Amino acid sequence: MIAVGSDHAGYALKLAVIEHLKERGDEFEDFGCDSPESVDYPVYGKKVAEAVARGEYDRGILICGTGIGISITANKVKGIRAALCGDCFSAEATRLHNDANILAMGARSIGEGHALKIVDTFLDTPFSGEEKHQRRIDMIE
Ligand code: RB5
Repeated sequence: MIAVGSDHAGYALKLAVIEHLKERGDEFEDFGCDSPESVDYPVYGKKVAEAVARGEYDRGILICGTGIGISITANKVKGIRAALCGDCFSAEATRLHNDANILAMGARSIGEGHALKIVDTFLDTPFSGEEKHQRRIDMIE
């Protein structure tokens, strides 16, 4: 189950991501926002991050203009490892090495086609489980 959220700048890309999740057959919940009207990204970053941290969702996807503000917000929540990714290599590596539980993307910095490939890579790559990576994740906490 995937929690998704965005601010106004990420709203259009979030709709495309939601359509993509439907096509993939992934279950999801949309935590808002619900229109392209200006809103504050911390509201949505926090909602999604807290829901993932409570264990109610396996992963989260957060989108704002740059992906920066919303990932900073999410990473304030204990247990959250939000990775801002603008390429598939980073999305794969952050799953393999960091066991990232939230993908953040910047709608103003990547195109839709690329973003959807990043989503696929993030959702389809398992954590490597390697001891050294788990040790480093434990050190973060
Ligand atoms: C909104 O204009 C923009 O500041 C926001 O979407 C995000 O990029 C912040 O980090």
